[in-house]
Amino acid sequence: MNSTDLSSFLAAYMPTIAPYSGGAVFMPTNDKNMSYKFKFGDRVKIKDGVNPDYFDGTCIGVPGTISAIGGGYYDYTIIFDNGRQQAFYVKDIDFLTPPKPKTKITLESVILAEDKKKQIIAAVSQVENTAKIFDEWGFADVFEKGTAVSLLFWGIPGTGKTLMAQALADHLELELKIYGPAEIESSEPGGAERTIKTIFADAKKNKKVVLFDECDSLLVDRNEVGPIFTQLVNTLLSEIEFYDGVIIFTTNRLGKLDPALERRITAKVEFPFPTKEQRKLIWQRMIPTKAPLNKNVDFDKLADYPLAGGNIKNSVLNAARTAAYEKSKDIKMIHFVDAIEKESEALQAFTAEYDKHPHQRMVNTMQRTETGNSVKKDFSALRGRLS
Ligand SMILES: Nc1ncnc2c1ncn2[C@@H]1O[C@H](COP(=O)(O)OP(=O)(O)OP(=O)(O)O)[C@@H](O)[C@H]1O
Ligand SMILES: [Mg+2]
Repeated sequence: MNSTDLSSFLAAYMPTIAPYSGGAVFMPTNDKNMSYKFKFGDRVKIKDGVNPDYFDGTCIGVPGTISAIGGGYYDYTIIFDNGRQQAFYVKDIDFLTPPKPKTKITLESVILAEDKKKQIIAAVSQVENTAKIFDEWGFADVFEKGTAVSLLFWGIPGTGKTLMAQALADHLELELKIYGPAEIESSEPGGAERTIKTIFADAKKNKKVVLFDECDSLLVDRNEVGPIFTQLVNTLLSEIEFYDGVIIFTTNRLGKLDPALERRITAKVEFPFPTKEQRKLIWQRMIPTKAPLNKNVDFDKLADYPLAGGNIKNSVLNAARTAAYEKSKDIKMIHFVDAIEKESEALQAFTAEYDKHPHQRMVNTMQRTETGNSVKKDFSALRGRLS
């Protein structure tokens, strides 16, 4: 928590704190001897069964928020949901919502061709200007419908699609909500449609970036599927219509999209297999500065191996694990090479299966839909309206 967060937090809670504390100053301590388990502002709960004699018992187990750290004899002062506050020892506190130590993913850390990145950022910048265009400039009075930005990331596994989705959400300072097929699909009739509606209602209320990860049942052409999928796509389309946030779809297998959905997709971006140069950057960025790296590790050589980012990540982690297991003083080239070999074996089994759905086929399908009838029809309709 930085100092701005701290003062706004205090400003919000001061009215509650002040009458009780009798003017005590709440300061996070820098005492190095204290091993911090909780941070200022964390939501916590007092451990069941803790009934310290300084506490009158009514708040046991009630969730609260850490309002002060190291405020004297006790470790933390907690404000409970009923407005009471009390000091506690760290041993008496349980997590309620464990704070996620999350490092933000920057757009720079995703290795992707610049033009593709620009395409994505340009689409998303629409969202950043939404308030200005629609509220300040009054376009909301004219356009009653949503202004969703929807992106489709497609490409083989491990090329950074999910990573980019996270980087975009972090860039927009919004939470990324990831939904996979398991969350969407339902055995109950109408269950999937209800889920889609709930997802959008939640995203509208709490401003989120919605990621439908590998939800291929949403990416189908209604003309080519049965009534169940048709209903699902219908629901999706009408929800998008009244949504003004960011939706991202990712898929490994891009088939023929529903023309109506295709029209609503702001940008379709392929995440291709990385080039050698890109692989080198991915390798380099995956090694933390603190990691003990042997000086003979040659990123140029490592980048020769045709691995996607996801496989590079696995290889890096496995190399580090082996080095640590061997109590080696640093991570050596041989650790990386061994790890790559293992990764490649696993990959080969997968690739053999993948060749049955060649990447090339995805490209062809893509081109077909882009220049195909649906698009042509759109253009002629547009021309008709213009002339
Ligand atoms: N282009 C990239 N730039 C930087 N890191 C990458 C890139 N691609 C993959 N990685 C690394 O690999 C990991 C896995 O990638 P990610 O999950 O984004 O792949 P994906 O395309 O979503 O794969 P899948 O189709 O299997 O879901 C990332 O967390 C990241 O560490
Ligand atoms: Mg993914």
